[in-house]
Amino acid sequence: MAPRTSAFDLSPEKLEEPHAQNGTGASVKAPGKRRCCGESFNRARLLFGMKPVCDATNEDGTAIDDGAAMYSPDVLQTYDAWVLNFVMPRVWGCPKELLLNMYNKHAGNKHIDVGPGTGYFLKHSTFPRATQGKENVKVALLDLSPHCLDFCATELAGEFREVRTYQRDVLADTPVNLPDEPFDSIGMSLLFHCVPGANLKEKVSKVIACLCPALSRGGVFFGATVLGSDEDGAIKIGLRKWWWLKGLNSKNIFQNTGDTCEGLCEALDANFAKWNVRVVGNVALFAAYKD
Ligand SMILES: C[S@@+](CC[C@H](N)C(=O)[O-])C[C@H]1O[C@@H](n2cnc3c(N)ncnc32)[C@H](O)[C@@H]1O
Repeated sequence: MAPRTSAFDLSPEKLEEPHAQNGTGASVKAPGKRRCCGESFNRARLLFGMKPVCDATNEDGTAIDDGAAMYSPDVLQTYDAWVLNFVMPRVWGCPKELLLNMYNKHAGNKHIDVGPGTGYFLKHSTFPRATQGKENVKVALLDLSPHCLDFCATELAGEFREVRTYQRDVLADTPVNLPDEPFDSIGMSLLFHCVPGANLKEKVSKVIACLCPALSRGGVFFGATVLGSDEDGAIKIGLRKWWWLKGLNSKNIFQNTGDTCEGLCEALDANFAKWNVRVVGNVALFAAYKD
């Protein structure tokens, strides 16, 4: 599938701002004011515990999965403040700096970011592993939500040598098959808990089959996910966390009721000779290395 650089909000009819070429042939959107439909409408819905309304579709026009559909442009405007600065440390007990450290440790010269959201970690990581500096890194963004791809590409304009966007489902049955393969790193932060599946073992195995053929030898697959089950004793779910998990799962914003650390470890172990998992609060941080 060709990179989608114009299939959604990037079309001139939908945007006032022009696109810019960054000198390498990659199409990026010039920074400017974003247009948001119903600016505060979805934020108000979220405050009242209702699911945001989103008009995003798959490329064939069908509705995208609930785990990605909530990321409307106006929700993305407040995502970093609400999710990364408040919910991550205060509810799940894992500061965003630990996730940023993973990007600083693992993200390489050619990087795929899956479910990038606002692109916070890509923007704030210094990419110390990139041998010729962050400005020479090539990034491929994969997301089911065209809103996230648009928002993130705008945020990252000018940061990297190239940013390409692809509207993809990580649970697809076929390998991603991107034109620039192989990649040095694949980052997938805070995504597994959003996607449907009976448990983390099933979801991680499926995602590895879809993404990891695109990884080079010595490449790293890394990320983090909020665990939703304390069945294996790896996390503790008290009343407050139970309330958050129940609310988010009832709206399909999270789909992690069967997600244990054990399931994640089993899936990584079945696919990689070298891997590690660390649990901080209710969040599992993982890295796996391709031979
Ligand atoms: C919670 S946000 C995480 C954003 C960012 N990675 C972070 O750590 O802040 C989840 C992201 O995954 C995307 N997403 C959800 N389901 C997906 C799927 N099935 N395939 C691809 N992307 C998906 C959402 O659109 C969103 O960008």
